[in-house]
Amino acid sequence: MVQDYRNFLSEVLIDEQALKTRIAELGAEISRDYQDKNLLLICILRGGVMFLTDLMRYISVPHAIDFMAVSSYGAGRRETSGQVKITLDLNTNIHEKDVLLVEDIIDSGYTISSVLDILSTRKPRSLHVCTLLDKAERREVDVPIRYTGFVIPNKFVFGYGLDLDEYYRNLPFIGVVATDRYLPELGV
Ligand code: IMP
Ligand code: MG
Repeated sequence: MVQDYRNFLSEVLIDEQALKTRIAELGAEISRDYQDKNLLLICILRGGVMFLTDLMRYISVPHAIDFMAVSSYGAGRRETSGQVKITLDLNTNIHEKDVLLVEDIIDSGYTISSVLDILSTRKPRSLHVCTLLDKAERREVDVPIRYTGFVIPNKFVFGYGLDLDEYYRNLPFIGVVATDRYLPELGV
C-alpha cells in the first residue's frame, strides 16, 4: 500500500498561496521579457508539469508549449551522473524559437546542463531556464538560470509536481520529507 503523505511530511515549505503569488510574478516578468518574441515553453517531464500549466496562465504573450523527457545514465534516483539521454523528444523544431526551459527543481545542475547542451545544438534563437525551485547549495555544475521561483535549503522535497517514487505529485504545496520516516523508500 502506498502510504498517506501525512506519515512523512515534516513541514510545508511553500504553501499554495505562496506558490501562486510567486508564479504570477514570474509570469508577469516573462511576459515583459518576451514581447515581440517567438516564445516556446519546454517542460521536462514529469516534475515540471504542474508548474508549467500554472505558469502559462500568467503569461500574457502568445506562446507554444512542448514536452521532453530525459533520464540520467547509470545513477540512483537521487544522484545524477552528469549525462542524460532523451527518452522523449520534442515535436517542435526549435530553430528560430525563443526557448524557455521550465523545470521543477535544479539540484546538482547536471540534468539541466545536459539538456541545454543538447538543445543549443539545434540553434534556437534564444535559450533560457526558468526553475520553480533552486537547491543552490547542492550545485556541482554552473547553470545559467534566468528565472527562479524560490531558492530552497538542501532538503528533499515533494508535492506540486515533484514525486517520491512517482507518487504525491498532486499535492498543491511543496513539502519536506521526514527522511527518518521515509528513508527506505527513497533508496538512498
Ligand atoms: P540535478 O540533475 O541534480 O539538478 O537533478 C534534478 C532532478 O533531480 C530534478 O528534475 C528532480 O527530478 C530530481 N530532484 C532533485 N531534488 C529533488 C527533490 O528534493 N525532490 C524531488 N526530486 C528532486
Ligand atoms: Mg525533474
